[in-house]
Amino acid sequence: MKKNLEELEIRKQAAKLGGGKNRIEKQHAKGKLTARERIEILIDEGTFEELDMFVEHRAVDFGMEEQKIPGDGVVTGYGKINGRLVYVFSQDFTVFGGSLSEAHAEKICKVMDLAVQNGAPLIGLNDSGGARIQEGVVSLGGYAEVFKRNVLASGVVPQLSLVMGPCAGGAVYSPAMTDFIFMVEDSSYMFVTGPDVVKTVTHEEVSAEELGGASTHSKKSGVADLTFENDTEALLMTREFMSYLPQSNRERPPLIASKDPVDRQEKSLDTLVPQDPAKPYDIKEVIHKVADEGEFFEIQPNYAQNIVIGFIRLDGSTIGVVGNQPMVLAGCLDIDSSIKGARFVRFCDAFNIPLLTLVDVPGFMPGTSQEYGGIIKHGAKLLFAYAEATVPKVTLITRKAYGGAYDVMSSKHIRGDVNFAWPSAEIAVMGPKGAVEIIFRADIGDEEKIEKRTEEYRDKFANPFIAASRGFIDDIVLPHQSREKLCRSFEMLKDKEQDNPWRKHDNIPL
Ligand code: HXC
Repeated sequence: MKKNLEELEIRKQAAKLGGGKNRIEKQHAKGKLTARERIEILIDEGTFEELDMFVEHRAVDFGMEEQKIPGDGVVTGYGKINGRLVYVFSQDFTVFGGSLSEAHAEKICKVMDLAVQNGAPLIGLNDSGGARIQEGVVSLGGYAEVFKRNVLASGVVPQLSLVMGPCAGGAVYSPAMTDFIFMVEDSSYMFVTGPDVVKTVTHEEVSAEELGGASTHSKKSGVADLTFENDTEALLMTREFMSYLPQSNRERPPLIASKDPVDRQEKSLDTLVPQDPAKPYDIKEVIHKVADEGEFFEIQPNYAQNIVIGFIRLDGSTIGVVGNQPMVLAGCLDIDSSIKGARFVRFCDAFNIPLLTLVDVPGFMPGTSQEYGGIIKHGAKLLFAYAEATVPKVTLITRKAYGGAYDVMSSKHIRGDVNFAWPSAEIAVMGPKGAVEIIFRADIGDEEKIEKRTEEYRDKFANPFIAASRGFIDDIVLPHQSREKLCRSFEMLKDKEQDNPWRKHDNIPL
């Protein structure tokens, strides 16, 4: 027994040391934490239970039988974040570069299966050179086992990927199939093929950072949802982020009591919308001012900024917010913003998170680049996502709601539950100028006439009253009352039940 205890201790120490002191120092020199240090920050103190610490690879080629490190390059297990269960895997770059062997994949699959079976989120800390080269197809099979589980877990438990080192080749597809990707600046990158292959195939010279660094993926590709300065910030923000999410699709998000009064009035909102309809204002101001304690956890803040998405709480409950941003492209819907919004709406709907939609949209973006890029199909994604969503949906039109975009942005017609407008709302088929130039084409050239017609059109349609008279708008509310009205609406809707017709799955325009 004593011998076994000693043996156990030796093996545990070997596992904890991973690839050894030198490699740990190298990891630190790159500004990165080790797999275990990361878990210590992410998980509540003393709650992490490690599984499979003694698992080793089974490879025998290329001298691998001589190189076995207990744990095989990934730390897996479960623990708590703010007292709530999560499953986690954390790849250890000091062991064969965190590369994925058959055994390494089996460890990840085990926690994925537990997460789905027991209904708790899965968080992957990715830091890996990809498939274990010495194992060949066996490691590719391992990846595919992980991919399959990502797909089967999608919409069942929240899945979050933190990319904290290299992530290349097919390995990017596991994070890509999770709900959110967070990256660390200057130390992580994601690409399907690295700079060397790019140079050979396309003759482009590009650095790893430019090709797939955090900045590229948070600003250009939209692959990353958030980026952070370093590992510690990424892990601490992940803890905060998780507080907005439910454990699974069978639960509601946690209620976090707030001292912020539901009937708090925000007088400054009364003067937020400028008199001149062509002038912008910041929709984020509305979001902050209605939210509990003014807190807004924004997602993808640097991508497709003409739409704003993220989480707030209203009277303690998580709410997913989607808002047009008049500060960028006048809040027009284009390809990128439609996709960004649609994916977020679907995440919220899958996980019982009610939706607040703030509307100030002059329409879909015109032009050849948008049409050639498929705005019809991509814009339809947002429409589809809103129309199929069965979570409580509350809409507030602050200013423009023109054309198809009026329909798309959670209008009454596609099952918006409560639809409000501020008195500044303008709800019509199109803006006054464009409308007059079409219906009074004969008057073009006669400035005076056109101006008069435009005024007429503005008086008739650039207001919320016609929509309200048809019941498309439930109430016209004063801006300073918004928080109270929104809180009450979501409170009223909290036990909403709505089903869609049976089908194998829908066919959203991908
Ligand atoms: C086995 C690997 C490895 C791998 C790195 N290592 N990647 N071992 N399989 N895939 C080992 C190295 O041999 C080295 O071991 C240690 O990890 C650290 O690697 P370094 O190269 O010294 O580190 P660094 O300079 O930081 O470079 C990191 C790297 C580079 C950019 C990730 O190692 C690299 O390019 N690796 C190969 C990446 C790759 O092509 N993977 C396959 C992708 S295709 P020692 O003993 O010296 O410490 C793929 C298919 C997935 O993943 C398919 C799914 C469908």
